[in-house]
Amino acid sequence: MPFIHYHVGNAGYVKACCVANINYGNCNTQSFNDIWNGEAINKLRTKFRNGESDPRCVVCLNIEKTGGKSIRQETHERFLLEHTSEVVSSPTYFDIRFSNACNFACRTCWHGASSSWFPEAKQLKRNCDTKPLIQNITDFEKFISETGEALLQAEEIYFAGGEPLMSEAHYLLLKYLIDNKHTKLRLRYNTNFSILEFKGHKILDYWKQFKHFEILASIDAHKELGEYIRKGFNWDAFISNRDAIRNLEHIKFKIAPTISILSIANLPELYKTCLDLKIIKKNDLYINVLERPHYYNTKAIPNAIKDKVAEIFEDFYSWAKLNDIPDFVLSQFKECINYMQAEDLSKHWKKFIAETKLFDKMRGEMSIDLKNTFGDFYK
Ligand SMILES: C[S@@+](CC[C@H](N)C(=O)[O-])C[C@H]1O[C@@H](n2cnc3c(N)ncnc32)[C@H](O)[C@@H]1O
Ligand code: SF4
Repeated sequence: MPFIHYHVGNAGYVKACCVANINYGNCNTQSFNDIWNGEAINKLRTKFRNGESDPRCVVCLNIEKTGGKSIRQETHERFLLEHTSEVVSSPTYFDIRFSNACNFACRTCWHGASSSWFPEAKQLKRNCDTKPLIQNITDFEKFISETGEALLQAEEIYFAGGEPLMSEAHYLLLKYLIDNKHTKLRLRYNTNFSILEFKGHKILDYWKQFKHFEILASIDAHKELGEYIRKGFNWDAFISNRDAIRNLEHIKFKIAPTISILSIANLPELYKTCLDLKIIKKNDLYINVLERPHYYNTKAIPNAIKDKVAEIFEDFYSWAKLNDIPDFVLSQFKECINYMQAEDLSKHWKKFIAETKLFDKMRGEMSIDLKNTFGDFYK
């Protein structure tokens, strides 16, 4: 990743990627060149050139150990990186997170990624700032004057939050790309896909002007369970927004469920429902396996329930055989099960129950689906 990738995250820190805490500098206080050609990033490049790995890459390394596909491997595939050790003069692939502005408060998320998490985070003393909104990039004009040239060379820009469609700076960046005729690059979004218009910016007017697109719509379950896991999610609005982009055929639309204790048992039903309703085509699944917090990690499920989940997946494989579901999708299902079974983290189960009950109380919610899946364990 340090040879091609530039990730801007919390407080403007530029990091190796969205999961590893490997810091190269800060785009609010340093120049683009100082960061891209700086000591921190060069140290990591040297390490990787020498064939060493870095312990801070633990999330990818853990996924790879269980046979799953890590962000690292996926990036290598997407950018055909045989030439990993050659530094490109400017990043091929940007991931820019302008702020934590978000209209959802999903259970597995946190205040650093979502402004809507603030009231509950504050009540629980888990807030990471004294105000809801945290701007990562403090001065958009300065950012563009430093990084704009490099952005015009990029092959891909990935937007992933807070909620990109609620970020005014994200619309300004699209405008900058359009004005500078750099519209052939690939845009990728991780989005909760709940709004298509923000402060007078109609996203479809922007999207029509770009050629290559991928929307990874974050949905962890359908209907009530989806609305329970992701506070703010509305199943009907999701379907109606999906309909609104149907005539933009250049957009690749995938569902991108985050696989946690809350969502894993429902994954087969989610996939089948989305297929039935023509929300997706057969290949359009992109799973995101949750690592932290540990109390939402599927490895924390007690063994007896893991067996039950595995049975639900076995039934799905039988159905998948009859319905010609592609290997690309089946391998993602298998990755979920392999990951869950790779380790016993059930010491965190109690915390899962406590956390779930705490949020049920604060939100005045309860999930019948979870009760059905977890039975007596969910007391
Ligand atoms: C933080 S969100 C930001 C983008 C956008 N708001 C969205 O929800 O797609 C990016 C992705 O992270 C997922 N996510 C939420 N909590 C997570 C966690 N604890 N670990 C890993 N991914 C998580 C979300 O479901 C979403 O797919
Ligand atoms: S929509 Fe995205 S950023 Fe917002 S709370 Fe959910 S996961 Fe976090």
